[in-house]
Formats: sequence, structure tokens, C-alpha cells
Amino acid sequence: VAISLACCSPLLFRPTQQDVDMASKKWAGTTQEQLDHGYSLYIAKCGGCHYLHKPAEYTEERWMKIMPDMKTEAKLDSAQYDLIVRYVVTKSYTMATPN
Ligand code: HEC
Repeated sequence: VAISLACCSPLLFRPTQQDVDMASKKWAGTTQEQLDHGYSLYIAKCGGCHYLHKPAEYTEERWMKIMPDMKTEAKLDSAQYDLIVRYVVTKSYTMATPN
């Protein structure tokens, strides 16, 4: 899959083992593959209308308020929604806060 980004290094967003450990506490059995899938969906679906927000820009609570609206905006099905939520919520904890 070819990925192009208008801003920020893709490396900054990529899920790590630390993310898998973190996500597993919340959603038992979360795999690296699921987080990677959430990451590519995030890049594919979430940067078209506005810049790709950094997961660390918002807390989990804020993400859970924002995401239902963006599910509609990005026309996500529930599987895609679930994967993106896992990805952003996990990264909101593990990523360094933005400058
Ligand atoms: C069809 C256009 C569109 C797509 C696709 C889209 N958004 Fe948005 N997004 C908007 C608009 C319009 C706003 C500003 C209005 C609002 O806050 O509801 C916004 C605002 C936001 C905000 C800021 C909210 C706040 O309160 O500060 C975040 C974060 C966000 N989007 C994340 C996402 C994510 C994650 C995805 C992918 C699932 C996504 N967006 C896909 C149109 C889009």
C-alpha cells in the first residue's frame, strides 16, 4: 500500500509493541496486525478533509466524542470504526504530546 502524507513522519504514527501492550489492557487480545490496520485506515480515511490530527492532540474522552461524528464523515463501517478507535485511543496515551 502506497502511503503519502502531507505532514509528519509516518514513523511517528506507526504502532509499536508498546502500543500492543497498552491496547491489550483495554481490548483483550488486540494484535499488532489490528493496530497496523487501524493505522493504515487512519491515514487513508482521516486526512482528506483536514490535516491528519495527531492522536496525542486529544484525550481518550475527547476521541470518543469526536469519533462517532467522523465515522459518519468518513463513511466508516463498524469494523473500520473499531480499528481506528483502537489505534487513535492507544496512540493518544503512548505518543509524545505534540509541539
Ligand atoms: C468528509 C470530510 C471528513 C472526513 C473524511 C473526516 N473528517 Fe474529521 N472533521 C471534518 C470536519 C468538517 C470537522 C470540523 C467540524 C467538527 O468538529 O465536527 C472535523 C473535525 C475533526 C477533528 C477535530 C474535532 C474537534 O472537536 O477538535 C478531529 C480530531 C477529526 N475530525 C478526526 C477525524 C478522523 C479520525 C477521521 C477519520 C475517521 C476524520 N476526521 C475524517 C470532516 C471530516
